[in-house]
Amino acid sequence: MKIAIIGAAGKTGTALVQEALKRAYQVNALCRSASAGKLAGFGNAPGFELITAPSVTDAGALQQALSDVDAAIVVLIAVRDLKATALVAALARAGAEAACRRFVFTAGEITAVPSPDERQSLQQRLMLAVFAPLMRLTPYSLRDMRDASRQIRQLDWDWTIIRAPTLIDAAPTGYRLGALDALPKEPNKRRSAVVIEDSGLFDETYPNIILVPLAEDPHLAISDLAVQSLPTPENGCTKAYFALAHHVTTTSKQRIASTPSRITDAQLIEIRRLIGIAIGLE
Ligand SMILES: NC(=O)c1ccc[n+]([C@@H]2O[C@H](COP(=O)([O-])OP(=O)(O)OC[C@H]3O[C@@H](n4cnc5c(N)ncnc54)[C@H](OP(=O)(O)O)[C@@H]3O)[C@@H](O)[C@H]2O)c1
Repeated sequence: MKIAIIGAAGKTGTALVQEALKRAYQVNALCRSASAGKLAGFGNAPGFELITAPSVTDAGALQQALSDVDAAIVVLIAVRDLKATALVAALARAGAEAACRRFVFTAGEITAVPSPDERQSLQQRLMLAVFAPLMRLTPYSLRDMRDASRQIRQLDWDWTIIRAPTLIDAAPTGYRLGALDALPKEPNKRRSAVVIEDSGLFDETYPNIILVPLAEDPHLAISDLAVQSLPTPENGCTKAYFALAHHVTTTSKQRIASTPSRITDAQLIEIRRLIGIAIGLE
C-alpha cells in the first residue's frame, strides 16, 4: 500500500505518518518547507519520502505526492495562509493528473457540513452556534472549512470526511483519533455480526466466540479491511453488509442469537486474512 499524506507535519499528520510506516506502507509525506524539520525523525524510515513546497497547495508538489499512490489522506485546515477550499481545488486538479481517486479528509466535529441523510446532534448544533462567532476572532475560518466539505461532495472522486472530535494521547496505544461517534446509541441492542471462530480453536465448553460486526453504512468500513456481502438466495441476507474485520472482538456465547443468514467459506477466509492485516500479522 502506498499513500500520500498531505499536511503531514501537524499533530494529525505526524501521527498518521507514524501509523502508516508502522504498517509498512510507503508514504509520500507533503508538508510546508518551513515545517520539514518536524518530520526529520522519519527521514531514514524505509518507504518514507518527504516532499516539501512553500505551500501544500503547490501544483507540482501535489502531483509528485499523488503519483502512483493508492490513496491520499489530507489534513484539511483553513487558516489565513492556507484555505481548505484552495487545497481541495488544487487536489482536484493534481488528483486528475495523477489518477488518484481515493481521498480521505480530516475535519472537526462541526467543521464539515452534514451530509443530507445525517442528523446533527443537539451538542453539535450548540457547538456550531457557540463556536461560529468565536472562530471569527481566530485565524481559523469555519466558513472556508465548511465550504471545502461541500466542494468535496461535488467532486467525482471516492472521498471520506473523517469528523474527529478530539486527538487524544493515550498510552499504551499511543493515540486515538477521536470517538468518531462509535458509541452505540442503544448499548444493549443486539447488532448484526458474523462469527468467525467458535469451535475450531475453542473447546465446546469455552464460553466465548470471536466475531466481526456487520455494518450497512459503507462509511464505517475501511475498504481494505472489510468484506462486502450482497444479498443472495443462498446466504439468506436481505441487505448488503460490510463485515468489519478491523473491529474484530470476542463476546460471550450467551449474548448471541443465531440467524439463518450465512457467509461463504471464501468470505470467511478473506475476513480472517484481513483480521491478520488489521492486527499487524502481514
Ligand atoms: N487535534 C485534534 O484534536 C483535532 C480534533 C478534531 C479535529 N481535528 C481536525 O484535524 C485536522 C488537523 O488538526 P491538527 O490538530 O493535526 O492540526 P495542526 O497540528 O494544527 O496542523 C494541521 C495542518 O495545518 C497546517 N497549518 C497550520 N497553520 C498553518 C498556517 N498558518 N499556514 C499553513 N499551514 C498551516 C499544518 O502545517 P504545518 O505543520 O506546516 O504548520 C498542518 O499540516 C483539522 O481538520 C482539525 O479540524 C483535529
